[in-house]
Amino acid sequence: MKKVMLMGLLAVGAMAVLLGTNQAALAPKYTIKEVMKKGFAGKGSLHAKVALGTATAEEKALFAELLVSLYEDPAPRGEQKSWEGKVEAIQKAAKDGNGKALQAAANCKACHDAHKGK
Ligand code: HEC
Repeated sequence: MKKVMLMGLLAVGAMAVLLGTNQAALAPKYTIKEVMKKGFAGKGSLHAKVALGTATAEEKALFAELLVSLYEDPAPRGEQKSWEGKVEAIQKAAKDGNGKALQAAANCKACHDAHKGK
């Protein structure tokens, strides 16, 4: 009986460790605000450079990394599925180097209207 209890405790402990590391691995690297500031806001933003085809390889890589976090970040408002769909469209256009599609997919107002909290 004692042995069973001990095994149980060990199992719970191992689960806690596993869950802990999983959460750390899953937590997005950048918050939405950070992604907006680094990738979308202002003149000459990363998103504009990628759309215009003037981004360097590093800038493209950073933009792609920001989008991974954006996809993983919980939408402040609206359906998470809709959020993921919007981010996926941006990711696809950026990956294809399709500037027109990127400008259309990264529609600031459409996304803010649907998903930005008050
Ligand atoms: C895929 C959805 C999406 C797109 C596309 C998007 N945004 Fe955002 N943006 C958000 C959300 C959601 C917030 C609110 C974040 C929060 O409050 O945590 C936000 C917040 C912001 C903020 C405020 C950041 C802060 O520090 O409070 C700025 C500035 C901004 N966006 C600029 C832009 C610009 C410019 C574009 C277009 C070029 C754009 N965004 C496109 C989702 C998006």
